[in-house]
Amino acid sequence: MMVEPDPLYTTGDLYERWLGEIDRDLGFWPALAERLGARRVLELGCGSGRLLVPLARALSARGGVVVGLDREPRMLHAADRRLAGEPESVRAAGRLVLGDMRRPKLGAERFDLVFVPFNTLAHVHSQADRLACLRSAASLLAQHGRLAVDVAQPDLNLLGQAGSGEAWIERTWDEADPGSDASTRVLLWRKDRYERASQTFEVTLMAERMRAGELPRTESVRVPLHVFFPAEMDTVLALAGLEVEARYGDYEFGAFDEASTVLITVARPIAARG
Ligand SMILES: C[S@@+](CC[C@H](N)C(=O)[O-])C[C@H]1O[C@@H](n2cnc3c(N)ncnc32)[C@H](O)[C@@H]1O
Repeated sequence: MMVEPDPLYTTGDLYERWLGEIDRDLGFWPALAERLGARRVLELGCGSGRLLVPLARALSARGGVVVGLDREPRMLHAADRRLAGEPESVRAAGRLVLGDMRRPKLGAERFDLVFVPFNTLAHVHSQADRLACLRSAASLLAQHGRLAVDVAQPDLNLLGQAGSGEAWIERTWDEADPGSDASTRVLLWRKDRYERASQTFEVTLMAERMRAGELPRTESVRVPLHVFFPAEMDTVLALAGLEVEARYGDYEFGAFDEASTVLITVARPIAARG
């Protein structure tokens, strides 16, 4: 299967500048692994190791390991650099694999917990591909293993407003120009659009680089994200042979309810029926 590079993850440090500092979910995954007694863990779409490194720290303390799979070599290099800054015991508890989560090639390895965090499944655009991801994940579970998926919850106000064509400044930062005292000011503009028929929320990011004495340069990246409505997750998991064991609506194991902005589903293989 051909994999096109995703510009969100291959355009400078755009992704890290936009979302790389989010930390609200860092403690959740080590806590879930501990609750489940999981020692062999697989993260699908591990990116630059934001979650994988804290998890490797926690698992190394109890003899566990985490494997991180991602399809962008650039993200895996960043994860590798992050792991390299850790003590030997933590480095030994983390492993990185290049691959596509629709068809991960992990041989006979099986895991106590496979997880797809931080709305990563929203990057998979067809129902058939989402099903392929979840079926593959299910096939990688050890006996008593669990699959956990974290997706954003649709905010109907935000979806309703998307499409006005209005752009706003999401972030700004300064980049030092190599070899001089000058710097480049970067404005990160954003605008959103929602396609109801395909349930796709598309974020457009435009990085505008402004340097004294030069015309601004603009680079733009489109990020289409599938929007999951709550019942859809249960249905697609069932199609993948999994049943829901728990649903959380935040990173403190709170119940999923009206106010939840995320849906974290923990599922297990449907017991063989007689
Ligand atoms: C939103 S980032 C999350 C990174 C990391 N899990 C975190 O929480 O910081 C999504 C990651 O999933 C990866 N990804 C998207 N589609 C993928 C696929 N089909 N197979 C493997 N990785 C994929 C991207 O390359 C990116 O690194």
